[in-house]
Amino acid sequence: MIGTGYLGATHAAAMAEMGHTVVGIDTDPNKVATLNQGKVPFFEPGLPELLSTHVASGRLTFTTDFAAAAPADIHFLCVGTPQQAGSDAADLSQVFGSFTSLLPHLDSNSLIVGKSTVPVGTCAQLADVAATEAGAVVAWNPEFLREGFAVEDTLRPDRIVVGVRQPKDADRLRELYQPQIQHGAPFLVTDYATAELVKVSANAFLATKISYINAIADICSATGADVVALAEAIGHDDRIGSKFLRAGVGFGGGCLPKDIRAFMARADELGVGRSLDFLREIDEINMRRRQSVAQSAADMLAGSLLGAHIAVLGVAFKPDSDDIRDSPALNIAANLHLQGAAVQVFDPKAMGNAAKAFPTLNYANDLNAALDNADLVMLLTEWPEFVGLDPVRTGTVVKHRRIFDGRNVLDASAWRGAGWEYRGIGIP
Ligand code: UGA
Repeated sequence: MIGTGYLGATHAAAMAEMGHTVVGIDTDPNKVATLNQGKVPFFEPGLPELLSTHVASGRLTFTTDFAAAAPADIHFLCVGTPQQAGSDAADLSQVFGSFTSLLPHLDSNSLIVGKSTVPVGTCAQLADVAATEAGAVVAWNPEFLREGFAVEDTLRPDRIVVGVRQPKDADRLRELYQPQIQHGAPFLVTDYATAELVKVSANAFLATKISYINAIADICSATGADVVALAEAIGHDDRIGSKFLRAGVGFGGGCLPKDIRAFMARADELGVGRSLDFLREIDEINMRRRQSVAQSAADMLAGSLLGAHIAVLGVAFKPDSDDIRDSPALNIAANLHLQGAAVQVFDPKAMGNAAKAFPTLNYANDLNAALDNADLVMLLTEWPEFVGLDPVRTGTVVKHRRIFDGRNVLDASAWRGAGWEYRGIGIP
């Protein structure tokens, strides 16, 4: 397993759980040392148990040495493809870098399986080099796991997509994934380009659903309609479906935002940029939401954020994660701070990562310390402990009973009943 981040570490532990001997290779010696102690360097429910079991059994080891890949039958590429600095395109340096380091350790029996999200065309490029330099075969097997559900999504995926040049090149992966296939996961064999595109078009579709409902939320706000009731009603149409129709502060994380941008950049290179122009608007709707939430906070504070004490509940990009990459919550917290508010942040898991990215915010020791003396409470990530807050008890801790529900997860009437000024997004 080359690359041991959210994807690689989970995939490594899952493969060990399935009975394989796995070696994880990463260029970061600190990460490798942590993983070899059976510890996970990020928060992912269920992963520490799985990882520590298989590190203890000796079936799962980690190293910085690419030579350790030599005895492996299958080499999974799980490295990151972040957004390039100063461009919408994906930065493929980790993909090409790890592939180049792996090459000397391959032979004609090696199967390289790409899992990273890459621009269409990347796999064919790697396959040509692997064939010429080592006589090895490349397949593309995009990963669809969600953070927070990574273990479950890996052991029980809803589909397995494998892009290959020859249908027989999929045979070893069909064998490897037998437990998942027997559990009902469809095994779909495609060409390289289709497999690469399945991944980005799925993420682009999810991003589109979220921005769509956020755009409708704006119309609801202008008319006094209720976007939560609306989403429920349209979701009963199974052609639409109710998932990913939660209006709120918008999408973030290490995948959706950078993937739609890389998709647009690649379409431009291919001369079909016009076809994905709508994704620019999806991105705009999403980014505008961050500004409009800060504006709503100012509105609730009679127009000025200056000197206001604001409790920000949640900075992770979503609950059950400590990931703050492109997090709307953290972006909004920083924006409020830059506009002169005294921001007290609390998040159950993401405090360390947030403090590294934005050291100038105040990080409260616990939820009560964040709420203490607040003029305004902003719920920005729907962690269960925030969703379950008691409006009466919370009202005794803050200075003013004002709450902005950036995820539409609180019971508005209960909060209003306890004397709070309550606002959500696209709800009356
Ligand atoms: C996403 C995809 O869901 C995975 O299938 C994919 O494998 C992954 O990206 C990836 O490419 O690696 P993830 O980034 O873990 O997974 O997060 P999601 O659960 O998709 O949530 C993304 C963002 O959308 C979060 O900020 C979340 O709060 C937001 N969201 C989600 C909404 O605002 N409304 C919704 O209705 C749903």
